[in-house]
Amino acid sequence: MLAEKYPERIAKIFSKYQDKRSGIMDLLYLAQEEYGWLDENALREVAALCDVDPTQAHSIAGFYTMYSEKPKGKYWLQVCTDLPCALRGADDFYAQLCDYLSLGDHGGTTEDGLFTVEPVMCLAACDHGPMLQCNFHYHENLDMEKMKALIEQLRTEAAQSEAGEPAAS
Ligand code: FES
Repeated sequence: MLAEKYPERIAKIFSKYQDKRSGIMDLLYLAQEEYGWLDENALREVAALCDVDPTQAHSIAGFYTMYSEKPKGKYWLQVCTDLPCALRGADDFYAQLCDYLSLGDHGGTTEDGLFTVEPVMCLAACDHGPMLQCNFHYHENLDMEKMKALIEQLRTEAAQSEAGEPAAS
């Protein structure tokens, strides 16, 4: 449960707003970060924290594309394959990344549930391709060497999180 695991983060979110309802988008991010996607339970949990009806949490999660109401891996790798990035090698990078993670040409989620890879349109970092956002953090000027290092780092973080250890800074 978010309230038990992240009391300080939640308090900090609510401290930014006069009304608890205004923290709903931040908390949806937190829930998605924690659970990988926003299922019925996550939406209900966030709604309860914000004192709103679950249908309001549903409508917000459904409206904004940065929220996913479908299962995703713990790390959601959205690779820009739009034209400017493609001209900088994004298509090859995407194919190599899918291959490295043993996914098909169209991406998907790894068997261990850690990574979901999908192509996306322009993320407004066109001169830094190939690039991706991982759970909304940008990683730019990528090649497979950097990507393999990032994947190993994320695997380590996931293992530490699973073991209840604090993430390395
Ligand atoms: Fe890839 Fe704009 S085309 S970030």
